[in-house]
Amino acid sequence: MTDTSKLIEQRTAIESLRVASHRHLTPVAAPVGPSYSHPSLILQGRKLGCVVMAGGQATRLGSTSPKGVIPFSAVANKPLLQIIAEKVKAYSRCYGIEPCLAIMTSEASDAATRTLFENHQFFGLRSVEFFVQPSLPLLDMTGELITGSDGTVLTGPDGNGSVFAGLMRSGIGEQWEQDGVEGVCLIMVDNPLLDPFCPAIFSPIFEGCDLTAAAIERASAEEQVGLFAIDNKRLCVVEYSEVDPVLRAARDDQGHLVFRWANISFFGCSIPFLKEAAAAPLPLHVAKKKVQGIEVWKSEYFVFDAMSAARTITLIPLEREACFAPIKDTLTLEKARSAMVARDRRRFFELTGVEAEASVPFELSASAFYPSDRFLTWLRGNILRRGFLEEPSESSS
Ligand code: UTP
Repeated sequence: MTDTSKLIEQRTAIESLRVASHRHLTPVAAPVGPSYSHPSLILQGRKLGCVVMAGGQATRLGSTSPKGVIPFSAVANKPLLQIIAEKVKAYSRCYGIEPCLAIMTSEASDAATRTLFENHQFFGLRSVEFFVQPSLPLLDMTGELITGSDGTVLTGPDGNGSVFAGLMRSGIGEQWEQDGVEGVCLIMVDNPLLDPFCPAIFSPIFEGCDLTAAAIERASAEEQVGLFAIDNKRLCVVEYSEVDPVLRAARDDQGHLVFRWANISFFGCSIPFLKEAAAAPLPLHVAKKKVQGIEVWKSEYFVFDAMSAARTITLIPLEREACFAPIKDTLTLEKARSAMVARDRRRFFELTGVEAEASVPFELSASAFYPSDRFLTWLRGNILRRGFLEEPSESSS
């Protein structure tokens, strides 16, 4: 049954999109990253949680399977969710504590996501939870419901901002609190470069901050990323599809973008903040998308809007090459694959001092990013310049 008040909210969002003005926003000052000489010590002995937002419909990619399960990596063809699960596993081998992993799915992605994990024995992880986000009706260009040939109303997942309420509603947030989780990161399934356990994202959380938000420098005025800005003394993000074009392109005297910092939707949170955000009402956004060949208004809650529920937020500057290659369509899928190969070659050189061959695909296992002593010893005896490099499992060594 259609929720009438929700429908009114959706129609109001379409109207306000047409009149939105952002001229009152001001730019954020350059964020200063935390400095420490041994970043890995920050995470030592800490119990962490990681929530993957994997409920999207992937309309721009046009794939029938959810983004998280399609073959992706350059040599071993690993899907994005496998890459994330293996980072969690590698992290546990390196630090001796397994982070809790939760995956937000939707009606569109739930079955395929669970099947991937079940077929791979949960990638050897002990604690993987799933929760399904709700859906909202898709509206036609006149704001009316769309009914399929079987009489059902066409719907889509209600946006990644659903993550907070979903985590609490499912009981996972409560469980993590009881299990002593000290910090939680929120990550997108479609950004394979990201290090979910980046010490800079967690360190302010351990010191009592509610929320950390990663920021990278915008590449151009046209880049499709949300902008960090200040709205009435509070940090916010304005989505690229909604921002005033004048503001989006504004440059200073030196030619730098005035609104210089981009959101990559990578956050660190305290458990108390997760609870606050789950209870906070978020605004509904609308965007035109093509679903099943029809142009529709899709209504979504955005994860970054929960920043308004945080008492303290720290913006964390990160290097684009190390953390951002989002997969949105077939072009960015290829770009992300190349970015991962380049990142793996750089990492291989850092660890071995040996250059991987530039002309062939190259892929490192997640252990290279959370290297245990055992992995480093093994790596020294197995210098390989091409192909795929993964240490044998403990049972086979
Ligand atoms: P996008 O906004 O790029 O959406 O999601 P999408 O569904 O993946 O792709 P399009 O817009 O239909 O082409 C960014 C991240 O947020 C997650 C996605 O899975 C992706 O990790 N997401 C998006 C959700 O978890 N739920 C949603 O309702 C929407």
